[in-house]
Amino acid sequence: MRLHGTQMVNELGHLEIGGCDTVELAKQFGTPLYVMDEAHIRDICRQYHSSFVEGLKNSEVIYASKAFSTLAMCRIIDEEGLGLDVVSGGELYTALQANFAAARIYFHGNNKSREELAMAIKAGVGRIVVDNFFELSLLNELAQEMNQRVEVLLRVTPGIEAHTHEYIQTGQIDSKFGFTLPDGTADRAFDLALSYSNLVIKGIHAHIGSQIFELDSFRHEVQVMIDYMADIYKRTGFLLQELNLGGGFGIYYASGDDPARISDYAQTVQVALENACQKQKFPRPKIIVEPGRSIVGTAGTTLYTVGSIKEIPGVRKYVAVDGGMADNPRPALYQARYEAVLANRAKEETTEAVAVTGKCCESGDMLIWDIDLPKVKSGDLLAVSCTGAYNYSMSSNYNRLTRPGVVLVAGGHADVIVKRETHSDLLRNDVLPARLKYLQMASR
Ligand code: LLP
Repeated sequence: MRLHGTQMVNELGHLEIGGCDTVELAKQFGTPLYVMDEAHIRDICRQYHSSFVEGLKNSEVIYASKAFSTLAMCRIIDEEGLGLDVVSGGELYTALQANFAAARIYFHGNNKSREELAMAIKAGVGRIVVDNFFELSLLNELAQEMNQRVEVLLRVTPGIEAHTHEYIQTGQIDSKFGFTLPDGTADRAFDLALSYSNLVIKGIHAHIGSQIFELDSFRHEVQVMIDYMADIYKRTGFLLQELNLGGGFGIYYASGDDPARISDYAQTVQVALENACQKQKFPRPKIIVEPGRSIVGTAGTTLYTVGSIKEIPGVRKYVAVDGGMADNPRPALYQARYEAVLANRAKEETTEAVAVTGKCCESGDMLIWDIDLPKVKSGDLLAVSCTGAYNYSMSSNYNRLTRPGVVLVAGGHADVIVKRETHSDLLRNDVLPARLKYLQMASR
């Protein structure tokens, strides 16, 4: 397993993260456990800050909180001086409860409800990124009712196909997101938005996909978007000032993944921007990028305890852990690949190829199909790396498994930032109607 951030193997042969021995973490907090490496998150935020905010004048980096949204994470992002992207009332609520300045929040989503939009207007979020015609008129109506002028970006679908898993591709024409650019729908949306007196159009937004390795996709995106901004100017005389390029910068999960450097990403955007603006004689807009995965992905590690082991001679050896698709649905959803190490015996030679499976009642509940490990025993501690993004945030209670806790580690300290769920948490919202209580008693 490739080590990330502050991960290292200590003299006991144990995996250590943020100066904390993972064997001790497992003892203290139980497994499965999400471990988040604070120094690593901050380091990446700083790389984004120096590459974009400082490197590329007039730009902003906003963290896409869908990747991992908790109070502590919002505080770290705030402290690091980045903005925040939220996509629901729940993410907005989390940010506001964390005291995140509303003016630095962007509100996304393809089906924001009236309540969510009202909540965002009331809180004074910086930008609402309008996705469709329904939202456009709803937002204008609400803003009128609330006597507010709302600053918006229009989300367009530029018709760019980024090379990534089809479920996380978003820039292509056949997408549920945004106003289609090539067929003139985006023009109609723009003209309509312009006629709405309570909306102030600040710019446009696109997100072409996620886990993108080819910087060329971003170069292409900049070019298409600047061409479009110049078109709007020529057609209407309206000068859009902001260009939000979305997120999508890819990360390393497993061997074969070869992500670019954040500084190269910024450089690509910079050069593409200069060229496109020069070609169109268009003034450089403010640039916004929205990384999610690349800020937290490699900073997360999930610790599991090995339980049952099933060997089918000549076929496969299944090593089952105490979590699975409920805490990490990504392998089942996207054929995502992960690396792992026996955290309690991290220095030992690998001797056997095994499959790591979860404990959910379905065959698709696989975490890693093929991995070399030392001879695994029940009770071993397995650490799966790069689980910081879209793991906790996509976790479920499938099979009524309780969600793991999350600890934030730094400088030898571990702080719980999300408590492990208990069985009684599972029943928190269960209600037993009186008639069923009666039936239950009668049947005894
Ligand atoms: N901005 C917008 C408008 C987005 O839709 C997304 C991700 C991002 C930014 C952040 O993208 P990132 O930098 O994290 O790639 N659940 C999937 C990923 C879905 C991404 C959805 N949108 C996964 O686990 O791979």
